[in-house]
Amino acid sequence: LAPLGSHALIPKAELHLHIEGTLEPELAFELAARNGITLPYADTEALRTAYLFADLQSFLDLYYALMAVLITEDDFEALADAYLARAAAQGVRHAEIFFDPQAHTARGVALGTVVEGLSRALARSQERHGVTTKLIMCFLRDQSAESAMETLEAAKPYLDRIVGVGLDSAEVGNPASKFREVYEAAGELGLRKVAHAGEEGDPGYVWEALDVLGVERVDHGLRSLEDPELVARLVRDRIPLTLCPMSNVRLRTIDVLEDHPLVAMMDAGLVCTVNSDDPAYFGGYAGDNFHAVGEALALDHERLRELARNSFVASFLDGSAEEEEL
Ligand code: HPA
Ligand code: ZN
Repeated sequence: LAPLGSHALIPKAELHLHIEGTLEPELAFELAARNGITLPYADTEALRTAYLFADLQSFLDLYYALMAVLITEDDFEALADAYLARAAAQGVRHAEIFFDPQAHTARGVALGTVVEGLSRALARSQERHGVTTKLIMCFLRDQSAESAMETLEAAKPYLDRIVGVGLDSAEVGNPASKFREVYEAAGELGLRKVAHAGEEGDPGYVWEALDVLGVERVDHGLRSLEDPELVARLVRDRIPLTLCPMSNVRLRTIDVLEDHPLVAMMDAGLVCTVNSDDPAYFGGYAGDNFHAVGEALALDHERLRELARNSFVASFLDGSAEEEEL
């Protein structure tokens, strides 16, 4: 990537970021050594060569495998603190951070360990990095609805730290409708609702996220333009989309950034935001994504400002101080 230009550093909120996807190879090896775990890669360079993905599933396989190094509260704290430092250096002022409880509890790491560790880094973030934060717990859509409901139940002691629920992992074949009851229960607990939809899945997946789960924000929504009625609905209800352009290229959803539908989506009236998804795996953090789409799509200053403004409008912040800053 070229050096970050001033547009990359524009103050922004990051709304689509999996904390487990910020695990850089260097930290992975450090934590592996600390925890006595042997990774099936000789060194960080060998690990990086595994970052050539054919699709979402091939990425997820490595993403879940590398989580083996995350064991203690200290590990989760180190992971989140490293992300927040990098995000701050790329103009991020507010981050709404996803985590995947089931990916840890399935390996015997307690939910409390994950939440307490992440919370330690998040609690110091404003002071240390100038970044405010919120935490969103995601259900793995390739696991059962019962497992998601158990996860929601287990999270009850920590709901003071969790602003909302999301839905991620393998999309195609795992429609949102499977999680209707879980989202209803989450809503009754006062949690905000988002879900991944329309990343690899067709517009039907986005419709279900809206109509069955009642989400207020759609993660990705990349394929929405394929359905004009869906676009009309998203525009009418001002449902924000958290697009992740570098992720789309790395997961082969689009061939090259120049083909990204971002401009067409903005022109259609959609509330678009630009985010990094899993930056350690996809080659760039939030500022890198702004810079990359700015160059590839020749975005002018006004468009980049609109994307930055949208990120605060689409966030779960109640104040408008951050918006006024723009
Ligand atoms: N899509 C779905 N699930 C995920 C992703 C993603 O891009 N990253 C981490 N879990
Ligand atoms: Zn994602």
